[in-house]
Amino acid sequence: MKVLVTGASGFLGWEVLQQAKRAGWLAEGQYRHTPIAGGHKADLIDERQVSGLLQHTAPQVVVHCAAMSKPEECARQVQDSWKANVEATAILASLCADNGIKLVFTSTDLVFDGKRGHYAEEDGLNPIMHYGEHKAEAEGRVLSLCPGSAVCRMPLMYGQPSPGGQSFIQGFIARLQQGKTLSLFYDEWRSVLQAADAAMGLLWAAAHVQGIVHLGGPEPLSRYAFGQLLVDAFGFDPALIQSCSQESMVFSAPRPSNCSLNSMFANSLGFKPAKADIALRQLAQGNPMAVAS
Ligand SMILES: NC(=O)c1ccc[n+]([C@@H]2O[C@H](COP(=O)([O-])OP(=O)(O)OC[C@H]3O[C@@H](n4cnc5c(N)ncnc54)[C@H](OP(=O)(O)O)[C@@H]3O)[C@@H](O)[C@H]2O)c1
Repeated sequence: MKVLVTGASGFLGWEVLQQAKRAGWLAEGQYRHTPIAGGHKADLIDERQVSGLLQHTAPQVVVHCAAMSKPEECARQVQDSWKANVEATAILASLCADNGIKLVFTSTDLVFDGKRGHYAEEDGLNPIMHYGEHKAEAEGRVLSLCPGSAVCRMPLMYGQPSPGGQSFIQGFIARLQQGKTLSLFYDEWRSVLQAADAAMGLLWAAAHVQGIVHLGGPEPLSRYAFGQLLVDAFGFDPALIQSCSQESMVFSAPRPSNCSLNSMFANSLGFKPAKADIALRQLAQGNPMAVAS
């Protein structure tokens, strides 16, 4: 199988590219500003460039990880978010349909309002910030423009950095290495997932999924509980992790409380991601601040 990974300079796309190569796929990556070895430069909001990219790489599968992925940035630059998250995705979906290419789209748990948690694929969407709204709109465009696509709702993810991106744990680890405390929410839950499992899940979805699938981690964790697992795995002083409430902070993008995902459908078909304590211990054995290879 030949796969093109968009956003391959970014945190998740880079991991998908590495995992695909390791699994024996013919894999190529696209970037926009951050060059990657052997990668193809393209701005996906330009239809001509997307068309040229697909002609040149001729993939059977596109795993679409390019996005404006930070909710707070999307809140500050709403038009840019719309272009990157909705318009670029629609252009890609349309061209994938025209060329008979399977599209795997990375959406987010933030399409839900977070009032209930444990969301299943068929639950109603109610995003509470621009990023979630735009990803929800993009999901709809993908499904209508390119029937047969896989829309994968991803949770909060962690892992090693990429050439142009990183996960939330790098900031945590940098602080803890300096002996500084971390205040983490006890009232914000996510089905946290390591990037290596997320990447394998996306490649699995390319072969097995048409429509929407949830690729959440095996257990819902509060940020505080995750922090406790992290200090344990990396051997930091547990006293450096302190708990606080979401309500004690002000954000430019509202934050849903419980966006945990019910991933039973994917689990029943073989998607079995590692629990965070195990995955974090594995990460701690290497260098979690170095670009994954
Ligand atoms: N990270 C998470 O925890 C998380 C959670 C849920 C869902 N997701 C979803 O997972 C996907 C990957 O997220 P990520 O964290 O890996 O993002 P990221 O690290 O911010 O990477 C974004 C990538 O998109 C590329 N890009 C942005 N705008 C582009 C444009 N107009 N044209 C072409 N490329 C463009 C960037 O390229 P350059 O850097 O080269 O400019 C970069 O490679 C996204 O769909 C995101 O919504 C992520």
